[in-house]
Order: sequence, then C-alpha cells, then structure tokens
Amino acid sequence: MPTKKVSESQTTLTELMIPSYANFGGKVHGGLILSLMDKVAYVCATKHAENYCVTASVSGVNFLAPVDVGDLVSLKASVNYVGTSSLIVGIRVIAENFKEKTIKHTNSSYFTFVSIDDNGKPKKVTGLELTTDQEIRRFALGKLRKEQKIADSKEFDELEANMDLNSIHLSWTNENCIVSTKR
Ligand SMILES: CC(C)(COP(=O)(O)OP(=O)(O)OC[C@H]1O[C@@H](n2cnc3c(N)ncnc32)[C@H](O)[C@@H]1OP(=O)(O)O)[C@@H](O)C(=O)NCCC(=O)NCCS
Repeated sequence: MPTKKVSESQTTLTELMIPSYANFGGKVHGGLILSLMDKVAYVCATKHAENYCVTASVSGVNFLAPVDVGDLVSLKASVNYVGTSSLIVGIRVIAENFKEKTIKHTNSSYFTFVSIDDNGKPKKVTGLELTTDQEIRRFALGKLRKEQKIADSKEFDELEANMDLNSIHLSWTNENCIVSTKR
C-alpha cells in the first residue's frame, strides 16, 4: 500500500500580527487566526494527499490566550490521522513577543479534510507511515475523534428528533432564560 511519512507534509506558517488584524479591544481577531489555521492545515492536507481537499469539519478550537498586535504567530500543522478519503490535521498555534520575550501557546485544533475528485466525490488518500510513538498516539486519538464524532452526531440527532417543546423547558429551573411564548 502506498504511504507517506508525517514529516513529508508537516507545514509551518509564520505571520506578523499587524494593526489591521486587531479588533475593537486591541487584540487580534479570532477569525483571522481561524483563517490562518485553515490555510496551513489545507497546505498540509494537500501535500499529503497530492490532491484537492475540502474542509469538512473543525473541532477543538479553544482560544487559550489572546494574540497581540506585534506578535509573531506560528502555526504548525501535521497529518494526525488518515481514513479512506479523509485526513485529520492537527494544528498548534504559538505567539511570540520579542519585546517581552514571551512565547504563548494560544490554541490547538483539528481540521478534517476530504480529498475529492473532479466530480466533487471523495477520493482515496495515501496511507500514513507512523515512525514515532507520538505519531502512533496522534493517529489513535484521531481515530477515536472520528468515531466519537459519528457517535455524538447520531445521539444528538436522536435527542433533537425526540425533543418535546411543550415540556422540555419545565425542568429549566437554573437556566438563564424565561419562556414567554403562549403554548
Ligand atoms: C466533505 C464532503 C466532500 C463529504 O462528502 P460526502 O459525500 O458526505 O462524503 P461521505 O459521507 O462519503 O464521507 C467521505 C469521508 O468524509 C468524511 N466526512 C464527511 N463529512 C464529514 C464531516 N462533516 N466531518 C468529518 N468527516 C467527514 C467521512 O467520515 C468519510 O471519511 P473516510 O472516507 O475517511 O472514511 C461534502 O460534504 C462536501 O463537499 N462538503 C463541502 C465542503 C466545503 O465546501 N468546504 C469548504 C467550506 S467553505
């Protein structure tokens, strides 16, 4: 079976946070960081697949610390898991501030891409050769992440289908809302 090493598609993107990236609070827009994450993850996925890929889903985005104007942001992407046509790319983001001599881990996330053919249909991707314990660990976690997502999605769909709007709110004693519709 054709395979590729994780190191063959690992990608790092570094960008200076300029004033036009700031929000009204003076910090960098979360959306700008998300866009850079999508970009670096896409490059990593397509380097592995050697084919056009689309973003299918994003998970685990938590903004752990704010990014400041003037920071040098580096985003490191690696293929963690490969299925039949999908790939999970893990991204770690750090922000370096040379003036204050600090390095912050600002977020990590997992983007799932699907390799597609000229008709927009999923296309088989090259396998992954795992060469370190860390790569085996990441692959195992990626597989769990995929299985968990499918199970959660089914459970959520069932909960939504069985939801009774006439009674669901009756137990909401501690929720921060009031129900003011006449039912
Ligand atoms: C992603 C897409 C190609 C999947 O097509 P599909 O016909 O539903 O695909 P399938 O159900 O046959 O699944 C194909 C693979 O994608 C994975 N997949 C599909 N939807 C997924 C999702 N939302 N999240 C994670 N993986 C997903 C499946 O697990 C499967 O993986 P595998 O082949 O490794 O086992 C299709 O939904 C699509 O084109 N979406 C739009 C993507 C896009 O435009 N992104 C940019 C948004 S701006």
